[in-house]
Amino acid sequence: SLDLVSPYLFRYKRRNFLVKDEMRPKDLDALQHFELRPTDIFLVTYPKSGTTWLQQVLVQIMEAAHPDWAEDVTNRTRVPWLEERNADNPLRERSDPRIFGSHLPPDMLPQGVKAQRLKIVYVWRNPKDVLVSFYHFAHSWVLLETPKSFEDFFQQFLDGDVYMGSWFDHVREYQETRDQLDIHFVQYERMLKDLRGEVVKLCAFLGKDLTEEAVDHVVEMSTFKNMKTNPKANYKDLVETKRYSAKTMRKGIAGDWKNVFTVAQDEHFDKEFKKKMSNVPLSCTWEI
Ligand code: A3P
Repeated sequence: SLDLVSPYLFRYKRRNFLVKDEMRPKDLDALQHFELRPTDIFLVTYPKSGTTWLQQVLVQIMEAAHPDWAEDVTNRTRVPWLEERNADNPLRERSDPRIFGSHLPPDMLPQGVKAQRLKIVYVWRNPKDVLVSFYHFAHSWVLLETPKSFEDFFQQFLDGDVYMGSWFDHVREYQETRDQLDIHFVQYERMLKDLRGEVVKLCAFLGKDLTEEAVDHVVEMSTFKNMKTNPKANYKDLVETKRYSAKTMRKGIAGDWKNVFTVAQDEHFDKEFKKKMSNVPLSCTWEI
């Protein structure tokens, strides 16, 4: 039987997974032995940290590097979700290099990721904006419980009682295991400030030697404005299936939390942040 946190979430290995999804503990365990290829790339994030954005950037980089191979499929199809129950999904048989999305913590990724030092792109974002984005997302995705109030959700986020558990654990654990992994960290706010610079760094990490024009094209295709109207990038197909009622591309800024947090909430958050992240050498960009 599942260890239920709510009718929507069950806890497994200190993380919260979706009851309404079809993944169960045995499926998550089976992922440990998921068969990998040396060219596999993993896009790992805590929810609402820029997954959709990096899907687009990575797909654009890979397609630019393989111009014969541009595909007319959505990013959701192009970057299949590792922890989705689709073990027989033919997408996994696709040509190299495969790109997988995942929200799993380091110890729940397939063992081969570490053993074979496969490439991981880890995107993180300041947790106050993650919280606000998550709050809106929880209203718009049928698999999540609609928050009773912002106050309630605020506390759930701090307690790690949300989908995928604690932001603090997720970010800390990837920092703590970084030396054992071939991992490239991308900060959401740096992407906002200098998208091109971050794309160039990603190309270097992925060993992709793109021309200046190709890099320009990746950047152009990955702006908020262009992604918002690109059905391959913005999950429009899910809106149409009614699994979402709102857009994934909401505001795309740094500092939206200032419009939502009370002064008391902000102080409380800062205190918790200090406590939970005291040993983690990270400095967040809270607004731009
Ligand atoms: P907001 O809800 O704050 O607008 P994820 O893809 O991990 O679920 O994260 C979603 C967040 O990333 C949303 O944040 C969304 O607007 C933002 N985002 C997606 N594409 C973006 C882009 N090209 N530029 C800036 N933000 C982007």
